[in-house]
Amino acid sequence: MKIPSSQITPEAIVLNRREFLKLAGVTGAGAWMLAACGGGQTASQATQPAGIPNGNISATSDELGNPVNTFDQITNYNNYYEFSFEKESVAGLARDFVTSPWQIEIGGLVNKPGLYDIETLKRTLQPEERIYRLRCVEAWSMVIPWLGFPLSKLLTLVEPTSTAKYVRFQTLFDTARMPGQKNPGFAWPYTEGLRLDEAMHDLTILATGMYGKDLLPQNGAPIRLVVPWKYGFKSVKSIVKIDLVEEMPTSLWMSAAPNEYGFYANVNPTVDHPRWSQAYERRILASGGVERVPTLLFNGYQDSVASLYEGMDLARDF
Ligand code: MTE
Repeated sequence: MKIPSSQITPEAIVLNRREFLKLAGVTGAGAWMLAACGGGQTASQATQPAGIPNGNISATSDELGNPVNTFDQITNYNNYYEFSFEKESVAGLARDFVTSPWQIEIGGLVNKPGLYDIETLKRTLQPEERIYRLRCVEAWSMVIPWLGFPLSKLLTLVEPTSTAKYVRFQTLFDTARMPGQKNPGFAWPYTEGLRLDEAMHDLTILATGMYGKDLLPQNGAPIRLVVPWKYGFKSVKSIVKIDLVEEMPTSLWMSAAPNEYGFYANVNPTVDHPRWSQAYERRILASGGVERVPTLLFNGYQDSVASLYEGMDLARDF
């Protein structure tokens, strides 16, 4: 039976507080000057053989006509430093990562904090298909058919208070299950943030699936953020904690290299990374191979999101 969203109460999906996950934070010593999407391989080395998209999707291109990548490409070329720095190794190393049961703790400046079960969230908030371009800061890109629900739906349920200005997201911290977190070069757990108006924007989703199926571990199962006008490193994976806060959160990448990775991370061809140009990207093609294409301001979502940044200096607030 479909429950109208008007009848969904946080009480209906909140779990007992005693079931809160035990989260422990550590601060890495020193910063490694790695690219947020780095790893030393080129996109062409990782491109899968030509193939048509597979899986259950309703359209095969995004709204600009860019064909979606294949399931094999999207699930075998990943950034997930908790498992590996090598994009093609993540899928194998994350294969046995157990993502069920899973809860997200939502707290901070909200009227209805609680522990939300992922399966219940999926049933009540009903993920829908969203085909988005993913532009990695390291200048490769893909087109991905996500299944997700607007983050705004979840935030509305928990009722941010008037003092809430930002949203902070956190990946699971578990060095036994995510061995990359033993690397002291990073301030684990992986943390990201959005301004509240960015978080409430309809394009911003929490993805739970891809190609009509549940997410695989390498793509951030069971739930990850997707903000299509920002560089891919904002898409924090395997989220266990969301907090509404007053101060701008410091992300893992901001603390690793503050001159290279800003809070906003908006895709912008006119603001170069200190070590490379952002004017072009290497689009990994579903048909095989790689095409060099100009990068679009806000990753091509300018009409929808430019108003969020009116009056801001995007070179300073990068
Ligand atoms: N989330 C966590 N927890 N750890 C990571 O290393 N990498 C980010 C982002 N989310 C990362 C993460 C980067 S750099 C990118 S480009 C995207 O995930 C890649 O998502 P994908 O592998 O699904 O394409």
